[in-house]
Amino acid sequence: MSGHGLGFETQREERSGESLALSGSLPDWLVGRLIRNGPGQFEAGETRLDHWFDPYAMLRSFRIDGRTDSVDYTNRFVRSEDFRHARSEGEVRRMLPGTPPDRPVWTRLRHSLTGAFQDNPSIGVFDAGGITAITESPAGIRVDPDSLETTGRRDLTTGLDADFTLGHPHYDPDRDAFVNFAVSYGRGATYTLFERDPQTTAVDVICELPFDDAPYAHSFALTDEFAVLAAIPYGLDTTQLLTGALSGGTFVDAVTDFQDGIGGQTDTRDARFVVIDRERGEIHREVPADPFFVFHHANAHRAGDDLLVDLIAYDDERAMTRLTLDNLASDTPDIPAGDLVRYRVPLDEGRASSETLYEGQVEFPTFDYPDRLGSAYRYCYMAANADGSSLPIRLVKYDLDERTATSWAPDGTAFPGEPLFEKAPGADREDAGVIVTTVLDADAERTDLVVLDAGDMTQIARATGVHRLPYGFHGQFYRDGNRVRSMA
Ligand SMILES: [Fe+2]
Repeated sequence: MSGHGLGFETQREERSGESLALSGSLPDWLVGRLIRNGPGQFEAGETRLDHWFDPYAMLRSFRIDGRTDSVDYTNRFVRSEDFRHARSEGEVRRMLPGTPPDRPVWTRLRHSLTGAFQDNPSIGVFDAGGITAITESPAGIRVDPDSLETTGRRDLTTGLDADFTLGHPHYDPDRDAFVNFAVSYGRGATYTLFERDPQTTAVDVICELPFDDAPYAHSFALTDEFAVLAAIPYGLDTTQLLTGALSGGTFVDAVTDFQDGIGGQTDTRDARFVVIDRERGEIHREVPADPFFVFHHANAHRAGDDLLVDLIAYDDERAMTRLTLDNLASDTPDIPAGDLVRYRVPLDEGRASSETLYEGQVEFPTFDYPDRLGSAYRYCYMAANADGSSLPIRLVKYDLDERTATSWAPDGTAFPGEPLFEKAPGADREDAGVIVTTVLDADAERTDLVVLDAGDMTQIARATGVHRLPYGFHGQFYRDGNRVRSMA
């Protein structure tokens, strides 16, 4: 497989309100906007960025109207301070996850002493009183949903004693609150579970989890009763992070294997599912499990005295450290495989057990989030790689009841992005709806919008893009008049 290198090349062009040619037909009820986030620019002046989490964020918006079978397209870089500096000065302003700043040592020292973080929000978007681009940073950047123009900033740590918040906040419709973890680094790390009113930004601290080490986390699981943080035996050597800030080391350089267990507290290298009782605001149980690494959770739900936690599990921290742009863009990328794994987490006693549901490499697990978050669910949608490709080549619908899978793959050399499920209004069947995604067509050097029937995973409509986009990360589909979210 080749062609995936195009997913890691800069697109500087910004287009606004371009009407796209559509083949096929959209459902009448599909009216809204898909806004996705991801890399746009892979260098600052002469400095080539090192890691997939470093490139400057570009938003892509597809205004979809099934009543008129029309799709309009807009893309725009987020005007973060990091982006402005890269464009005006041609250098890296602050440490990006895998690239050190192009700044003198005394500037780096000031950054490390003041806890200055990047503000390049390339992971995803969420709607907190306005569309906001986010990453693992204290800064969220507001954009206009039509033009994608940057309109302001928002401190995501307001009211919290924390350095930044995780890139995958949950939205709990019952409480009309965002639920997330804030993280602060010291000698180890403290993870603080909080809920925030999306309009007033008032915050409630639910529970604080102090760790002697700094286990890495990017997402977590949520049910009505519990929030579950997977404390994995891979994370940051905070001493190395501090000294690295001066010597030119990075966040990714400081990622390590806690060989003595988290905090040296055990003589094993166990992971721990920290199960937090949301109502009581305290830890219900810390449940040991064999070591694994995770970026993304799918869903979790209660089954009797157990919690079933579904996530994409990797062997170890190489899932992150191998995501260098040189490796990803090479003809022979060496990419660790993540599988869809179900962990059975007992709420009373004993260890968590695991069962591999679908062997990968798979990523971007999604489901019917508005209706099934924290509940039993049947279908999980993922993007799947083939050997020799650093990018997904097909989308998979996995049936958790039947333990069967259905796939869709675009023609030619092409790479589909995160699959977002949108349910048909009033539908009963869990998979009555569509999958909305973008596809990087390497043969045509173009990125299209594709809509699939989620029932049988066949293509029903495709809008021809006006240019090529780098491969993106996460997005949301915002239906008009009902801004429920598509995913975590
Ligand atoms: Fe993510």
